[in-house]
This record gives sequence, structure tokens and C-alpha cells, in this order.
Amino acid sequence: MSLLRGFTFILVISVISCVAQVRSYMMSDVKQLLEDKLTDYNRDIRPMLNQTEDLILDIHMEVAAIVEFDEVNQKIIITAPMILQWSDESLVWNPADYGGVDELIVKSRHFWTPSVILTNTFTAMTPIGGGADIDLVIKSNGGVTLNSPDVFSATCDPDVTYFPWDKHTCTLLFLHTNPYTNHVILRTNSTKAGTAYYAPHRAWDLEDTEVKISAGGAHYEVSLHLRRRPLFVIVNLIAPVILLSFLNVLTFLTPTETGERLSYSITILLAIAVFLTIVGDDLPKISSPMSVFSYYLLAVLSLSCFIIFATFYSLNLYHMDENKEVTGLWKSIAILLKRRYSVKVEPDSSEPPDLAENKLADVDTEKKVTKGPFDFNSATEAPNITWKELSKLVDRVCFVVCLAVLLLGSTMFFSLLNAAAF
Ligand SMILES: *[C@@H]1O[C@H](CO)[C@@H](O)[C@H](O)[C@H]1NC(C)=O
Ligand SMILES: *[C@@H]1O[C@H](CO)[C@@H](O)[C@H](O)[C@H]1NC(C)=O
Repeated sequence: MSLLRGFTFILVISVISCVAQVRSYMMSDVKQLLEDKLTDYNRDIRPMLNQTEDLILDIHMEVAAIVEFDEVNQKIIITAPMILQWSDESLVWNPADYGGVDELIVKSRHFWTPSVILTNTFTAMTPIGGGADIDLVIKSNGGVTLNSPDVFSATCDPDVTYFPWDKHTCTLLFLHTNPYTNHVILRTNSTKAGTAYYAPHRAWDLEDTEVKISAGGAHYEVSLHLRRRPLFVIVNLIAPVILLSFLNVLTFLTPTETGERLSYSITILLAIAVFLTIVGDDLPKISSPMSVFSYYLLAVLSLSCFIIFATFYSLNLYHMDENKEVTGLWKSIAILLKRRYSVKVEPDSSEPPDLAENKLADVDTEKKVTKGPFDFNSATEAPNITWKELSKLVDRVCFVVCLAVLLLGSTMFFSLLNAAAF
């Protein structure tokens, strides 16, 4: 085994020295070559011997990282090395004439370079590799490669409809611009941007990339498909709002005698309003598309308002003059409900509201509330109903209705949202 390894080692060494031998050339060779090539070279002229022909510019983007995606300000920043390749017909040489030099690495300021710019940029439009004094790799056949590590900040229209399961497509549009625009044709060798060096982002997944050449070789478009990682929003926003909205319904189970009902429901309304503000800060301030989640929050807030309204009403009923009789529509509805209700719930005597009733009976002994509001035995007779009973009944009905609306509404909303987003 070690023999084999030693053998491989020797083989590798000899291959390396062999290659090195072929590529061994002196600085003077390179100097000579560069001097010869710079003589009579004009970097302002498109490097085609026949100037009526088009120059083909191969362009390729490697996405290295998403630095930031700011959907509120509609901006994406990425780091992405761009590889530009073209053929400079005046830079062809015979390596044998220069001691075997087959590759020249020089600063781009000496030779012609294309000027490809990002059009939907947030900053000044500088050509790729134009700002920096970047290296060109020139082969003896005239092939030139420019590898420019760039940071692009581009505008991006976010689509937050399905927040926090939202997906966005950001398109970076490049084009070649200089006096020779019509004679430089962009070309690319793949339909996707390279992601070999991509470092994942913590908040956004890069799902896919798409690359296309459009406008007859004038435009190079790179589309990045981003998807939010929703866990953060679910834990910090959605779960608390859902929990709060369920707490909200408990208002109806709070005994009226405690005097806490209004302050309780208003506290929860305020808490929900705070979350509404937070969501507002996290979303772009645009009216279309609106986030469906904002509507959900609005619905929760409306429900909360309704609960406060109903609480007011129930409190008013509770404190009505006992000497006045409950009459008219209210009475018939109450009796109807009472009957229905008693038939259903009779066997279950351990319900919390029942406990509340018992307590009520203790407190109001002198007031002759002899019948509990849910005195089921009397439900079959045509009973008289007091305001307090009516108030309790309203509470019960509101509790059941609100809970049902909340459960059904939330389940439907989130399953629909989930289905639509995927
Ligand atoms: C230059 O290119 C054009 C277009 O390809 C061609 O028609 C023309 O003959 C070429 N001229 C020379 C001198 O080769
Ligand atoms: C496309 O060209 C670039 C630059 O030369 C290269 O790095 C990349 O591997 C090529 N991709 C394909 C699919 O050939």
C-alpha cells in the first residue's frame, strides 16, 4: 500500500515538473510580449479586425451570497462574481516566439474591456470590473477572460401577498453600453446562474435562478427566486396573535361581578393593535399587492372590537332595572335559546359558567334571583326571564359564536394561505 502511495507521489511530482517545464518562461519573455502587444494597441477600439463584424461576449454570473433582501425598501444586494469572456483578435500570438508564453495576466487598464452595466441598480451605473483595476487573463489564441467579483444592489418588486410564505422573484437586468452597443452581442452558456459557491442566507432561501438573453443579445437577465424562511414570523408574530385572539374570547367567561371585563377586553385589543403595527413595519408600504395576513389581523382586530361592543351591551343588560320586565323580541329569543340550550347542555353540570351562576346566586341572595339563569327544569314551562339572565345568555351565545368564528376562520385562513403559497 505504502509502495503504491510512494509510486503515485513520484508520478505526481514528475507530472508536475513536466508541466512546469513546458510552462517555464522568464519575465523578459512576458515583458517582450506585453510591449509588442501594447505597441499600436488602442483600447478604445472594439477588438475586431473586421469592424463590421459583431463581437460575441460570453457572460456568466456566479451567485456567491445574498447580502440583504429588504422587501420593505424593495431592494436586494447580492455578491456575485461575473465572468466575461471575449476574443481579442489583435492579441493573438505564437507562444514559440516568446519562450513558450501562452498566457498573459495583465491589468485591464491596458486593453479593451466591455462595459456591461446593471440597469436596475440602486447605486451609480458602473461597468462590471470598470471601477477596479482588475486582472485580464489573455490566452495566446486571443481569448480574454475578465473575472470581476462584484456587489450588486438592485431594485426588486416584492410580492408579499402570502406573507410569511411569500416568494419573490428579483431580476437583475444587464446590458452592454458603449458607442459600439450594436456590435457587441451577449451570449451565455447556461440557463441558470452558477451557485457552486453560494453561501445560504439565514432568512431567505434561494430556490432557483434563471438566466436569459433577450432583446437580440442586448440584455442579460438574471432572475433570482427567493422564498422566506417563515419560522421567525410564525413564532414571533402569528402564534402570539392567534393565542391573543383566543384569550380575547374568554372575556365572555369572565363573571360580570368582577368588574374586569371591559379592561380585560380592551387590554387584548391593544395587544393585537401592537402586533398590527409590527406587521406593518415588516411589510412594504404599498397597496398592491397587500398581504393577506394584514387582512387576517384586521379581522382579528374587528372581532376584538365586536367583543368589546358585545361586552358593553351585556353589561348594560346586566345592570338594567330589575323591576322592568324583559319584553318583546328579546324575551322570545331568550326563551327559545334557553330551551335549546338546556336540552343540549343539561347533563354537563361542571361547566365553568354554571359555577359563575352559583357564585352569582351567593352574592345576590337578597335580590331573589332564586332561579339560576340556566334553571333547566323550568325551561319547558314558559319562564320569566330577568335582565341578568338575559345578559348571561348573551354572553354564552357570543362566546360560542366568537369561538366558532375564530376557530373556523383561522383554520380556513391558514390552510388556504398555505395551499396558495406552495
Ligand atoms: C467583414 O465582415 C462583413 C460581415 O461579416 C463581411 O461582409 C465583409 O466581407 C468582411 N470584410 C472583410 C474585409 O473580410
Ligand atoms: C459557462 O461559462 C463559465 C465561464 O467560462 C464557466 O465557469 C461555467 O462553468 C460554464 N457553464 C457551463 C454549464 O458550461
